[in-house]
Amino acid sequence: MKKTVIIYGSTTGNAASAAETIAAKLGNCDIKDVSTATKDDLENYDNLILGSSTWGDGDLQDDWYSFLPNLKSANLAGKTVAVFGVGDQYSYSTTYVNSMGELYDTAKAAGAKIVGETSTEGYSFDSSTAVRNDKFVGLALDYDNQSDLSDSRIDSWVKQILPEL
Ligand SMILES: Cc1cc2nc3c(=O)[nH]c(=O)nc-3n(C[C@H](O)[C@H](O)[C@H](O)COP(=O)(O)O)c2cc1C
Repeated sequence: MKKTVIIYGSTTGNAASAAETIAAKLGNCDIKDVSTATKDDLENYDNLILGSSTWGDGDLQDDWYSFLPNLKSANLAGKTVAVFGVGDQYSYSTTYVNSMGELYDTAKAAGAKIVGETSTEGYSFDSSTAVRNDKFVGLALDYDNQSDLSDSRIDSWVKQILPEL
């Protein structure tokens, strides 16, 4: 397996918890809070798993904003990226996990191959920029309303992306 890093942004710990669960199931990977990640991380790893909770009106988690220029200017050609997003589909039904859509667009524009799209079945929300062609661009989690589903969702997603890493 090639070198993999998980980079996540989290304010109250939910996306951090998702990142830790993903790391435990994936094995053999590094994990970094985006506030401590560096530009070198984007160059030194073959596979990047990028995650964020969603804040404000569909915004990235705060710590992502200082790192975003690094992601925008990186050349991710030849690298594989998977994204995950954490949000609240009932209280923020028109911007559910929008931050995952932003991570997806940024990584794609930087030339990465993106893997790990998932079905929207089992979720209930009005709109999300993380949905393209009726599918989530990555793994969507909701610790506010469907916490009990997170472990099994992460489990199937890790099994899905593992052969691609
Ligand atoms: C002020 C506020 C704004 C939020 N905005 C959104 C949003 O636009 N879309 C969404 O899906 N979730 C939104 N959420 C829900 C959080 O993303 C959710 O609670 C998440 O689990 C927090 O994860 P964290 O602890 O990793 O930061 C918002 C929550 C708060 C308190």
